[in-house]
Amino acid sequence: MTTVLDVQRFKDEHRRFAMVTAYDYLSARILDEAGIPILLVGDSLGMVMLGYPTTLQVTLDEMIHHSKAVARGSRQALLVGDLPFMSYQASIEQAITSAGRFLQEGGMHAVKLEGGGPHAVEITRRLTELGIPVMSHLGLTPQSIHQMGGFKVQGKSQAQAARILADAKELEEAGAFSLVLEGVPSELGTRVTQALHIPTIGIGAGAGTDGQVLVYHDLLGLTTGKAPKFVKRYANLAEDIGNAVQRFARDVASGEFPGPENSYSANGAAPAKSPAAPASIEERQEVKYGAG
Ligand code: KIV
Repeated sequence: MTTVLDVQRFKDEHRRFAMVTAYDYLSARILDEAGIPILLVGDSLGMVMLGYPTTLQVTLDEMIHHSKAVARGSRQALLVGDLPFMSYQASIEQAITSAGRFLQEGGMHAVKLEGGGPHAVEITRRLTELGIPVMSHLGLTPQSIHQMGGFKVQGKSQAQAARILADAKELEEAGAFSLVLEGVPSELGTRVTQALHIPTIGIGAGAGTDGQVLVYHDLLGLTTGKAPKFVKRYANLAEDIGNAVQRFARDVASGEFPGPENSYSANGAAPAKSPAAPASIEERQEVKYGAG
């Protein structure tokens, strides 16, 4: 199984690595079997899976619900649960309780939290002391969307870049085992990566970070609308699914589906094209929905 020590080794051995979001059992299983070393149950699931307008609406209970499903689907990957908005900001005690739930109930191995500054640094220190590994997240931090005035690239000015670099060093010093850098100029992504001992994982942070993360649905083209610039689509599943279900509906309308090969008979012989007899109890018990 991938551990936080392996993730540090990736950096030490200059091995670039991928992290992908997972929100459910099946995606976790596919990603795990494909050898993706880190799965992030990101709060982006609020927008991608639940249709919320931002990540701010996602609750800790929703995150735990999805984490449990991901944990059931994964055997090899390091699992990171994303602390949602207002599950760690109120106090250190709240952060400890929320992070503890991710490990105890959700089956995660580590948590991620957004932002720098004294509160985030203190949470990182305390969680690390308690044996809960922390992945930090700087740059474009979607939980602060209203303060940033939208999904805007961060760290463009010298002062902002210096702030991000200083925050990154403080979080590392507090014990973070890795750092997500989102939506920053490539030069800053490289600069922060070179300044830290812990690995950085970029999303819209250029090619100079130690790892890269993408949202599962984005990289598979399982979305509607235009993808952001930092996304590379490796498949076009939304279109494929649309075409597949249209073909299914056409086959139903024309009587092409179900054919004899999709039908049961009372005596085990493939029935003729006419509608199938009701399945026997034995046959019904064999029926399985979805992957086993
Ligand atoms: O919630 C999420 O998916 C994330 C990644 C984009 C890093 O935080």
